[in-house]
Amino acid sequence: MSQEPVQPESASDTKRQPASSTDRVYIFDTTLRDGEQCPGATMTFEEKLEVAEFLDDMGVDIIEAGFPIASEGDFAAVSEIARRVKRSVVCGLSRAGEADIDRAGEAVKHARRPRIHTFLSTSPVHRKYKLQKSAEQVLEMVQFQVTRARNWVEDVEWSAEDATRTEIDYLCRCVEIAIKAGATTINLPDTVGYATPEEYYQMFRRVMERVPGSEKAIFSVHCHNDLGMAVANSLAGVRAGCRQVECTINGIGERAGNAALEEVVMAIKTRSDVLPYHVAIDARQLNRASKLVSAATSFPVQYNKAIVGRNAFAHESGIHQDGMLKHTQTYEIMTPESVGVTKTSLVMGKHSGRNAFRVKLKELGYELGENAFEDAFNRFKALADRKKHVYDEDIEALVDEGIATQQDRMKVVALTVIAGTMGPQSATLTLDMGEGVHQTVQATGNGPVDATFNAIVKLVPHSATLALYQVHAVTEGTDAQAEVSVRLEDDAEAGGRAVTARAADPDTLVASAKAYLSALNKLFAKRGRLHAQASA
Ligand code: KIV
Ligand code: ZN
Repeated sequence: MSQEPVQPESASDTKRQPASSTDRVYIFDTTLRDGEQCPGATMTFEEKLEVAEFLDDMGVDIIEAGFPIASEGDFAAVSEIARRVKRSVVCGLSRAGEADIDRAGEAVKHARRPRIHTFLSTSPVHRKYKLQKSAEQVLEMVQFQVTRARNWVEDVEWSAEDATRTEIDYLCRCVEIAIKAGATTINLPDTVGYATPEEYYQMFRRVMERVPGSEKAIFSVHCHNDLGMAVANSLAGVRAGCRQVECTINGIGERAGNAALEEVVMAIKTRSDVLPYHVAIDARQLNRASKLVSAATSFPVQYNKAIVGRNAFAHESGIHQDGMLKHTQTYEIMTPESVGVTKTSLVMGKHSGRNAFRVKLKELGYELGENAFEDAFNRFKALADRKKHVYDEDIEALVDEGIATQQDRMKVVALTVIAGTMGPQSATLTLDMGEGVHQTVQATGNGPVDATFNAIVKLVPHSATLALYQVHAVTEGTDAQAEVSVRLEDDAEAGGRAVTARAADPDTLVASAKAYLSALNKLFAKRGRLHAQASA
């Protein structure tokens, strides 16, 4: 086993030329659909567009942009992504009904390369309890859904939901009908994250060997991570002959998530000796993609997350550090640069000007419009006045927060908190309630955070519950910025929706107020969208 670390790619490596048609693996990203589906990971319309354009640039082959029938917001996002994306195939999800398929067709029709992804449950437990249909009825539905989708587009993907718990003979019948009706991609998901790699491999081998015409379709893997095997299962499927991998940035998705795109890509690139396949992803953008999605969804990335976690390339123990100093290959199987983690070349501080800030942003992978740049620069200056060293992580937190709060209606204007041993602690808070209308209140609480949140509740009464409040320091030192995550959940009566938001500030209480308010903004926007949909 040779251990040459993966080096940064040259520009020509990013062209989408398969080395050969048989070893090319297509990356299907479903961050905007399966990823966004997970509780709390809601993205705004603008955030979705930004993520889609980034994925397109990074070399993702197929972008699943959403589930158009799910809401007006989803439909609008999928249609706009279809119009904007330059290279990737843009795909909309649909169930098996006429209205679903037509809505997906409408949403993707302006894409340069449109795809409809239509799915149906095939396992006995889903047929009986979820669909309440007989096996024969399900077969008829497969025929119908693929035929209808083919009336809209030539590129149709059919998925057998819960394929891994479906009787193999029945699964083969479903796949045969889907291919005969014109499906060009067949996806057999491990919907509940139950399979082991060997089982997943065998399922695909059997289906490919038994189904007449299987060579006409591209087979696809789609794995959930309930037992932590999503990436291993995906790679087993590829070994079995699948040439499309469905995955998400940071592995976000229903329950324990989906296979992480960055892990699948780097496994293939790093272990080409045992995984002799090619992907067209520019891996140097993986780190930025992770940060972008984390900022848009307000889902923090686990510190020890493979490839993109903040510790993924950190060497703490003396023995490891010593080894690294002697030769990086002692403890590194890929270089940080190969996934876009760069070493700081410009140290920023209060004397840094616009040009240096622009260069730094570029180094970190940001391309901001003029207004966003000015806003980020002003906030950087304010931060540099308060903090001696401004690290890359500080700048990332600051820019990401700007992106996440751009559309927020209500904003924190001022906060004064009295804390200490003599309770009750109190907070005086001024909010911009929208369109420049300011309101101020005072509230007390059991501690400064409680007082601050009580002040927000006084100004913005609501019934959502605080499901998570988490603080962490962006960098080291007592002057580090605090990054606060807040998750709010509506009660069942109000729809049971959940949102997460994040904010950073050198003052922990200000960061807390901003994060709480940002979550409320998201929740109200989400309720508004659903309300509009219901009244339509
Ligand atoms: O996990 C799953 O089965 C899905 C389908 C809709 C493809 O996400
Ligand atoms: Zn899924």
